[in-house]
Amino acid sequence: MESIKVFSPGSITNLSCGYDILGMCLESRGDEITVSKTGKKGVTIKSISGFDLTKDINENVSGIAAQSLLSKINLDHGFEIEINKGIKPGSGIGSSAASSAGTVFAINQLLNSPFSLLDLVKFSMEGEKFVSGAYHADNVAPIIFGGITLVRTIDDLDIIPLPTPEDLEVVIVRPNIEIKTADSRKVVKKKVKIEKMTQQSANLGSFVSSLYSKDYDLMSRSVIDQVVEPDRAVLIPEFEKIKMISKLSGSIAAGISGSGPSIFSLSNNRVTSNNILDKISDHYNSMDIDFDGFISKVNSGGIKIIESK
Ligand code: HSE
Repeated sequence: MESIKVFSPGSITNLSCGYDILGMCLESRGDEITVSKTGKKGVTIKSISGFDLTKDINENVSGIAAQSLLSKINLDHGFEIEINKGIKPGSGIGSSAASSAGTVFAINQLLNSPFSLLDLVKFSMEGEKFVSGAYHADNVAPIIFGGITLVRTIDDLDIIPLPTPEDLEVVIVRPNIEIKTADSRKVVKKKVKIEKMTQQSANLGSFVSSLYSKDYDLMSRSVIDQVVEPDRAVLIPEFEKIKMISKLSGSIAAGISGSGPSIFSLSNNRVTSNNILDKISDHYNSMDIDFDGFISKVNSGGIKIIESK
């Protein structure tokens, strides 16, 4: 195989009760990444379309993740990357993770898969560290493993795939502003009261249980964030109002997607999802707030190969 094109999806992380540890892979939005073998050693970024990003391999997450992979293997050739961004950077649905994970997944395929999925997560995390200032695997894990994942620890990387109830889907609304992950992390207070830690742990445990039991009432009571969301909510136009509209429109739960500004709203049927999206759209339109909204199923397969030759 000389060249491969992959679809690398977006993701929703935190899911309110699992800051930096929970993530969900999306079906509807993603980047298309083509990687080709070249005679020249190392990695180059040949082109980027969709959004304006640097092609400098030391400043672009695809280049950074690819170099992390290449540092672990001796090759007499290199790779050229073409990126078609389908996810806007700074939108809160894992734009950087889609690019870095898609790139290392594609390179691994071209090399006949010498690296494990956990290795690919580790390489991709170098890109996440670069853009956000901190290592976290909550976006890259569900993209690489598919579905919904829990990152138990990043020190001795341990990723736990969780079940996805087949009717679970999500409405995503992104007010048209950019929030850099690094900035959104700066507003999060570093100390948590023990009572909040206790409640958040209980919410996370009961959320995981709700995935196994497909108990949407329990999910609704669990997807609550007392720790991070209060600090970040001020960054997102009309956040509390959108949450309330979601709830009144039948949502299971709603919260900030990743580091924002996207807002996710969980549902278990398309009629409700459409209703949620319509009602939120009406509100943002009435406030003259520019936004983008879509509905996605949970993507259980993760990154997909589009073509190879
Ligand atoms: N868990 C991360 C955060 C996701 O909330 O900052 C952003 O990439």
